[in-house]
Amino acid sequence: MLKWQIRIAANSLKACVPFQAKLRRLKHSIKPPVPGRHHELVLDGIFEQVSMIRQAGGRIEGARVLEIGSGWIPVAPLIYRIAGAREVVLSDQHRLLHPRSVQAAVAFLRKRTSRLARELDVDEARVSEVLDVPMSGRLSSMLEALGLRYVVPLNGETLKGEIDIAYTHTVLEHIPPEALTEVFALVRTRLGKGGVFCNGIDNSDHRRSYDEGLSTVDFLSYSDFAWDMQCINPQDYTNRLRHSDYICLLTETGFKLLNTQVHIAKDAMAKIEPQKLPQRFRNKTAEDLCTTWSLILARA
Ligand SMILES: C[S@@+](CC[C@H](N)C(=O)[O-])C[C@H]1O[C@@H](n2cnc3c(N)ncnc32)[C@H](O)[C@@H]1O
Repeated sequence: MLKWQIRIAANSLKACVPFQAKLRRLKHSIKPPVPGRHHELVLDGIFEQVSMIRQAGGRIEGARVLEIGSGWIPVAPLIYRIAGAREVVLSDQHRLLHPRSVQAAVAFLRKRTSRLARELDVDEARVSEVLDVPMSGRLSSMLEALGLRYVVPLNGETLKGEIDIAYTHTVLEHIPPEALTEVFALVRTRLGKGGVFCNGIDNSDHRRSYDEGLSTVDFLSYSDFAWDMQCINPQDYTNRLRHSDYICLLTETGFKLLNTQVHIAKDAMAKIEPQKLPQRFRNKTAEDLCTTWSLILARA
């Protein structure tokens, strides 16, 4: 069996264990997740978002910002706070934040104070103003001190008030297309005049994180049924939408495109044969199929 097959089989078995969310909370209360290599990429990804928003004339200073799909370690929302956001509303499908994971994010960013100040064009005092706050007690008081709020699950009832900026980082590819349309519609109705929506999307085959032998777009070769069979555990789910699909969904929801940046996997592009792929991918260009990273900025 190949490495990825073993991992998918193990994850599928795990998905059959009842009370997954409770078990995960218990595991994290004993050993909370800590920032790792992924969070170095989060740093770079959010610096790019901040820069793209500013270049388009968006103001982060004083903005109320919504993050969709915050995960375990709130590195990204704290970067938006340091860049000037008045408040960042974190949201997710499940409650994943833990007081120790919040403390770990703060410690991770404190160690990078001079880089944060340089990349975000703020002085180091601003970094301290956001991060040097009381960090003990309950999760809710820690988040309040950091200028953060937590909304789970995200929907029209739980999300209160207007927002100026919404963003995601490595989240949209995990949301089924039908749910994505609802999320985009909610964001659009809550963004005030001039509000912007910035998305960093990892369009690559995520199984590569545990099997580097796979091509970055190997997953495109499966039928929808065969792919669904590999996503029995919701943690393994990726929608396989391509860059052009996100552009279509955003414009169909009424967003106006302001800017995009993409990474194209040139090695995969040289080998891909679109006509040999399942029907849903055959009318796409090789460039679109092999776009493995999308940064998309749109205005409501
Ligand atoms: C790969 S993690 C990314 C976490 C974080 N944004 C980062 O870059 O480190 C994907 C996150 O998206 C969340 N997510 C998946 N589907 C979602 C949905 N429909 N609504 C909100 N969050 C969702 C997951 O719970 C998870 O926290």
